[in-house]
Amino acid sequence: MSLRKFVSPEIIFGNGARNLAGKYGHQFSAEKALVVTDKNLLKTGWVDDVLRTLHEQNIKYTLFSDVTPNPRAFEVMHGADLYLSEGCNVIYAVGGGSPMDCAKGIGIVSSNQKNILNFEGIDKIINPVPPLIFIPTTAGSSADVSQFCIINDIMEKVKISIVSKAIVPDVALIDPETTLTMSPYLTACTGMDALVHAIEAFVSTGSGPLTDLYALNAIELLSENLIDLIHDPDNPSLREKIMLASMQAGLAFSNAILGTVHAMAHSLGGFLDLPHGECNALLLEHVIDYNFDSVPDRYSIIANRMGSSINNASSSEIKEKLLNRIRSIKSGVGISSSLIKRGVKPEDLKQLASKAEKDACMLTNPKPATAEDLENIFGKAL
Ligand SMILES: [Fe+2]
Repeated sequence: MSLRKFVSPEIIFGNGARNLAGKYGHQFSAEKALVVTDKNLLKTGWVDDVLRTLHEQNIKYTLFSDVTPNPRAFEVMHGADLYLSEGCNVIYAVGGGSPMDCAKGIGIVSSNQKNILNFEGIDKIINPVPPLIFIPTTAGSSADVSQFCIINDIMEKVKISIVSKAIVPDVALIDPETTLTMSPYLTACTGMDALVHAIEAFVSTGSGPLTDLYALNAIELLSENLIDLIHDPDNPSLREKIMLASMQAGLAFSNAILGTVHAMAHSLGGFLDLPHGECNALLLEHVIDYNFDSVPDRYSIIANRMGSSINNASSSEIKEKLLNRIRSIKSGVGISSSLIKRGVKPEDLKQLASKAEKDACMLTNPKPATAEDLENIFGKAL
């Protein structure tokens, strides 16, 4: 077996985990915290819960909520300026993937003193970042457990991937209750993101026994429960199962890395500023169709864990069953769009493919893909 490593934050999982935010800050000798969130989260009450625990521990704080979906490089730079000018020594993030990725970016810039876009790629961070304490409020991005940070370069209209164990948060307070305020469509998109994380991690060239267990458990939990959750969004047990699946998928992909779906979704999301999970959902079946013959045994295991009967089925039958299962979950959670409906034009595909080819996630896809291959896959997803 090839060498494998596994990194993870200290994780507290369960309802009420958010209430430990102040206690953990105290452990890191927090005197003043930068709390990164977004405007919508401020309305939910989850940020107030976290701030109350900081107050109880006599930790001062500054709020930074100028974060948009698909966080921009300039937002990271503004946040880093604030972190330094306010004399902060710990960073909290309360929110979904966007505030969490922005918070990681702020941590990188505040201790490395360069524009965030300089850190694109793998292991480019020199100086350690401040303590990161994350409270995720969506079940999908898993930035709270991962070594990924995705930032939108609006000049180049592409999302860049920063990958380093330096940005694995120190503490993830994973509280399923905080996902109760997600809309059904956000629940669907983030849930599909988690499913893609688990599938890409399981077929990645970086997969192995340290990550397979998490990937397969996540695939099973999401297949069995995501559609039910969309129809019963206030069900705490379903919220907990999907949050657990998201965490497992996050631990799997953070360590096994991803593949072509994410490379293409980063290109697409940067080009049109679309929700990340929706991009993944629109691309997944087409990438599996392309990849399947490179690792048919791995995809067969996935099909089986997603509930498809594969006994005595040929490889092409298993592929069709898996694709149908993916399509039924996608439509079952209410994602029915297409790239054309979302504004992609046939003449955009070459540029989208060229940007996807350069994404770090391509390195671990199980099948090599040229820009022309990626253009063809984009074409099928139109
Ligand atoms: Fe993702």
